[in-house]
Amino acid sequence: MKNIRLPNYSIYLDDQWNNLRESIKDYSKIIILMDINSRIYCLEEFLILSEIKKYETIVIPDKDGNCCSDNKTTSDTNKIPNCMEQYKNLDTCQFIFDEFIRLGADRHSLLINLGGGVVCDMGGFCAATFMRGFDFIHFPTTLLSQVDGSVGGKLGVNFKGYKNLVGVFKDPIDIFIFDKFLESLPERELRSGFAEIIKHAMTLNYNLWDQITDMDKIDIKLLLPLIEKSIVLKKQIVQTDPFEKGKRKILNFGHTIGHGIETAYLKRQLRITHGEAVAAGMIMECYLSKLYYNHTEEWMEKILNEFRKFFPKIDLSDEIYNEVLENIKLDKKNIGREPLFTLLLEVGNVEYDLKVPIGSIKDAINFYRTDY
Ligand code: GLY
Repeated sequence: MKNIRLPNYSIYLDDQWNNLRESIKDYSKIIILMDINSRIYCLEEFLILSEIKKYETIVIPDKDGNCCSDNKTTSDTNKIPNCMEQYKNLDTCQFIFDEFIRLGADRHSLLINLGGGVVCDMGGFCAATFMRGFDFIHFPTTLLSQVDGSVGGKLGVNFKGYKNLVGVFKDPIDIFIFDKFLESLPERELRSGFAEIIKHAMTLNYNLWDQITDMDKIDIKLLLPLIEKSIVLKKQIVQTDPFEKGKRKILNFGHTIGHGIETAYLKRQLRITHGEAVAAGMIMECYLSKLYYNHTEEWMEKILNEFRKFFPKIDLSDEIYNEVLENIKLDKKNIGREPLFTLLLEVGNVEYDLKVPIGSIKDAINFYRTDY
């Protein structure tokens, strides 16, 4: 196993704890941001292994609205909603900013985002903007945030129901991956992250795809090499195009329709994981690839069979269907109102910025509804 170096930071998969101690040693104040799950399942082990003695914590509340923000000796409870995707918004940022003020955060502080994508994206955004920015580290605890969300400097929150509409690009000081935390994740969360590994394979590396097609289920014990490969693939892209002007758009495969689905679910307060939406989006965008490049039925069927092993069909009833189409027109990746797609020339090789007629998008959604 090796550690992965990007221009401004490292991703440690190995000897994380010594490297973490080294990274945090010069800060006046350390604040650990968590949601209730990472507080319950990860904090204790994190504190033992990191040997951090002096710290403050901010905990984003559970679904009953209980929130505690404490240092080692005191705790207090406020009421704000739970830390799921629908609470990745400016209200929760305001709560975090209030906590920064209460805890005396300043430009010499360090925020450690201990949690999944919501914690890393939102915590990073708050740290990057509070007092015009202080340093932060990502310690992603979900597969999704380990292989995708924490890598590449995208930070932000949802706004008026639209995914990640408000945000900035800023790199963390370092990222630490500790795969043992994956053991606390439900199957559904693992699948969510696995969708992004599939995306990296389908768009960038046929060998990784080949490896995935040999799998029947997600085995945590076999995940670390896949995590490493996935991060290395993403790193190669974000290093050449950090601000998504060109090549990084490759990573949007499955996301044009996937974000449309996620936003429709989010607005209705229906639960869907990011990976479930993106997996459905990838299936539909494979269908668009088939139309665009004249791939065969067998090509499509082989891909569908792989997805069927990991991802049950999601509901795309008429109401959601119409909303998905509207959301696609408003996607932040569009130029004007014209949706642009990344499509598969073949598995492991893509083209991006491709215009697709709205009729084909409707066909792709209908194909998913009837044939998946
Ligand atoms: N999740 C896609 C990207 O970071 O660009």
